[in-house]
Amino acid sequence: MADHCFGGNWTTDKLERVRKYLEAYMTIFSGNERARKLTPIYVDAFAGTGYRTPASQPPPDNPLFPELEEPETEAFLKGSARIALEVEPPFKRYLFIERDPERAKELEKLANEFRIKGHDIEVVETDANQYLIQWCHRNDWRYARAAVFLDPYGMQVSWDLIEALGQTQAVDLWLLFPLGMAVNRLLTRNQPPTGAWAHALTRMFGTNGWEKAFYAHHTQMTLFGKEEEYYTKEADLNMIGRFFIERLQTAFYKVAENPLALRNSCNNPLYLLCFASGNPKGSETAIKIAQHILST
Ligand SMILES: C[S@@+](CC[C@H](N)C(=O)[O-])C[C@H]1O[C@@H](n2cnc3c(N)ncnc32)[C@H](O)[C@@H]1O
Repeated sequence: MADHCFGGNWTTDKLERVRKYLEAYMTIFSGNERARKLTPIYVDAFAGTGYRTPASQPPPDNPLFPELEEPETEAFLKGSARIALEVEPPFKRYLFIERDPERAKELEKLANEFRIKGHDIEVVETDANQYLIQWCHRNDWRYARAAVFLDPYGMQVSWDLIEALGQTQAVDLWLLFPLGMAVNRLLTRNQPPTGAWAHALTRMFGTNGWEKAFYAHHTQMTLFGKEEEYYTKEADLNMIGRFFIERLQTAFYKVAENPLALRNSCNNPLYLLCFASGNPKGSETAIKIAQHILST
């Protein structure tokens, strides 16, 4: 087995909430005569291996691509792919995307275990952003609905993908937003970031409006009568989270108002677990269920 080590207790909490939603989603789907004519698909676009093992290394100090968090206390835990495959009633189709070849191999093994039981599973070893955008355009959404889970370590999700998912009007999205894990760390104190860091923020928010939203621009006279410019960072974690939820609202029909901050053992918020629903007819129920799951 290729070890896949990440997360802490907040990971278990996150996955349990997503599991609850998937179960409610499929229960409602199977009980509704009109919905039964549609194909329900589960998509895990940063799928990992299907299992988790204890973390053994400290996280590297790179806010753009944080790879690991605090160690697990349990020896072997189910990852999102296996959790989704065990949901009853099952989805009609499953799509797992994973960029890492070793992890994709593990997913294939998991898929084979469930194919024997009749599950229709596709494992794709590639970059999730590019592949899923094309996939959104390829599907005929008159006949399908999808529950999509985007669970990256850091800022790997691009806004283009979020927009494409919203445009289908057929996707319910669970998304891990790297609030304290990456975004807040990129927002440097004395002036807005530039270069690769600014680019990463714009790619994830889909706008460079974060700069105006998160920084105040000041001018003052120096002792020598020259005008001097400086910035102050105004954004705190609440403001950053709110900004992202407002961005999601531009792409999806409805967005849960109570995203959940997932905190490490020092009580620092690492991620925001967000939910958005794209289908105009189904979104009211979807949001009600998701908001309940996020608040309990
Ligand atoms: C936090 S892990 C996912 C864990 C998984 N949801 C679970 O519960 O088992 C993130 C995964 O995304 C993969 N990944 C990172 N960037 C990617 C990309 N651009 N496209 C596809 N997979 C990617 C990593 O290799 C890693 O396995």
